[in-house]
Amino acid sequence: MDGVNSMTGNYPDLPVLARICRENGALLYVDDAHGFGVIGERRADETSPYGARGNSIVRHFDESYENLVLVGGFSKAFSSLLAFLAVPRWLKDHLKVAAAPYLYSGPSPTASLATALAGLDVNEERGDEIRARLYRMTARVLAHVRALGIATPNTDGLPIVEIPLGDADDLDAVAAFLWEHGIYVTLASYPLVPRDRVGFRVQITAANTDEEIDQLCAALTELVARFPLQSTTAVRPVTAGRPAEE
Ligand SMILES: Cc1ncc(COP(=O)(O)O)c(C=O)c1O
Repeated sequence: MDGVNSMTGNYPDLPVLARICRENGALLYVDDAHGFGVIGERRADETSPYGARGNSIVRHFDESYENLVLVGGFSKAFSSLLAFLAVPRWLKDHLKVAAAPYLYSGPSPTASLATALAGLDVNEERGDEIRARLYRMTARVLAHVRALGIATPNTDGLPIVEIPLGDADDLDAVAAFLWEHGIYVTLASYPLVPRDRVGFRVQITAANTDEEIDQLCAALTELVARFPLQSTTAVRPVTAGRPAEE
């Protein structure tokens, strides 16, 4: 499963899922490509509810790696070509002799390692300050979205804000409208998603400025006046990143 979900921006109830796996001798495989670098361990001195250090969903919930495989990717928060696994010791020993990509591929390119190391340095020096800004800008966007009555499945306050459209056929026009207003979003089109989930995903990044957030909010205000979006009451509840069973 995903850690922080790539579309909803929400995370699963990891402690419950990990416990069920442990009780049943199963292995829980968590891909936290989107959480790594953003959420991390909870601490009294954390700068935001994302937690500290960006060390991923497992640490965010103070979970252990027993019966759990964490895949963390550097391609999002660190913009680098690298990924890692955090696994129980027995599995690490097993993978070292059984995983063909580990046995037969070449090492990661030096350039990829260098950008990851530089990213880790930035994370160490000012990661929590950056995350505090990111949280604050995201909170502004979410507050604006809610004030406009626009539905979003985002309940966990992370910087991925999915906005489903009222009419799936508007997607091209909505994307063009936002683009003309200087806003680039990721599109979720049919049949990649069911027709009632067609929409777009806004990603707030640490590189954004407060002026850009103003620009985004103004564009969303205009968008609501032009296109039907799903209202706060119409969107289906989402559990663990997926539409709840009806
Ligand atoms: C959940 C998830 N895992 C992994 C990836 C891919 O990561 P990478 O580009 O590092 O292979 C993506 C998207 O790019 C993703 O959404």
